[in-house]
Amino acid sequence: MIKLNNLVATYTTERGQVNAVDGINIALPSGKIIGIAGESGCGKSTLLKVIYGDLIYPLALTSGNVEYGFTGDRGTEVTTRDIKEYWFRRISYIPQASMSSLNPVIRIRRQFVDFQGNVVDEAKILAEVREYVRSLDLPAEAIDAYPHQLSGGMRQRIMVAMGTFFKPDIILADEPTTALDVVVQKSILMLLMDIQEQMENTILFVSHDMGVHYQLTHKMLIMYAAKVVEFGDSEDVFSTSLHPYTKMLTDSLPTIGDDHIREGVSGRPPSLWDELVGCRFAARCPLATEICRQQEPALLEHKPGHFSACHHADQV
Ligand SMILES: Nc1ncnc2c1ncn2[C@@H]1O[C@H](COP(=O)(O)OP(=O)(O)OP(=O)(O)O)[C@@H](O)[C@H]1O
Ligand SMILES: [Mg+2]
Repeated sequence: MIKLNNLVATYTTERGQVNAVDGINIALPSGKIIGIAGESGCGKSTLLKVIYGDLIYPLALTSGNVEYGFTGDRGTEVTTRDIKEYWFRRISYIPQASMSSLNPVIRIRRQFVDFQGNVVDEAKILAEVREYVRSLDLPAEAIDAYPHQLSGGMRQRIMVAMGTFFKPDIILADEPTTALDVVVQKSILMLLMDIQEQMENTILFVSHDMGVHYQLTHKMLIMYAAKVVEFGDSEDVFSTSLHPYTKMLTDSLPTIGDDHIREGVSGRPPSLWDELVGCRFAARCPLATEICRQQEPALLEHKPGHFSACHHADQV
């Protein structure tokens, strides 16, 4: 289990402070692909940054903590403050734009070695890296290149190789295939899926593409305005959602033989700078009533393993 305990993460800006993750409290099962979806700005990347322990100004973890589900090298509990020590070995991060996370003036093979930390036998590790890259059906020579010499798709595949080489317990993938064409996208996602099936890592996978989520994930976590509004088995979240926001997101998925025009999600989420009272989705919600405008719904387990934060979950 990865336990997210009452996480509040805050950006300090010229306009003041804004909670981009605002009280997230949920336990995520290990060994599964967990999809994270929600509109732009709802806090998906911020949540991954908190879990990765990438807490640099202006971002801070204001309250709460993460339990990673594994003990550290010294037998102690791992916290967001020391999770950095385990980057790539136990937890890795595959970003959207690999170019910005790879050092442009260093050959890729060197970056693999650097992730290892204190290297004893560099030649041995490089041989292992080549072998691993080859086992993923990638050309081993790719690691001898500088990042800019590779195509976007190849770079992203190498990023997947890098992010999985040490068999980390947790892989955080933040829109790892956005900006690539559909064919390349698919092959990279298949690669990630195959690796996960073999290694049984926990993958937190952020994407805007609900179709990809449907195919790839075991569990779905739906975020709205810095909060979790629904969590459960992907099958249940897609077929018997307990939140009207999820319904809006998944209704925009076309089904075969259905040719009526999709409405998508109309309206916009509230500004996180405003004082938010009641359910944050109420203004856009077809089911909203007085209680929704006044009282914030708690994230409750309405069915075994299926959580929703909605006063009218039984009517969705
Ligand atoms: N460096 C920053 N400084 C100030 N505010 C920020 C910063 N980065 C993000 N935010 C704010 O935090 C909120 C959540 O941002 P985040 O990037 O986590 O959203 P997201 O769900 O990943 O969006 P997207 O789908 O566009 O990637 C947004 O309101 C955003 O404006
Ligand atoms: Mg993001």
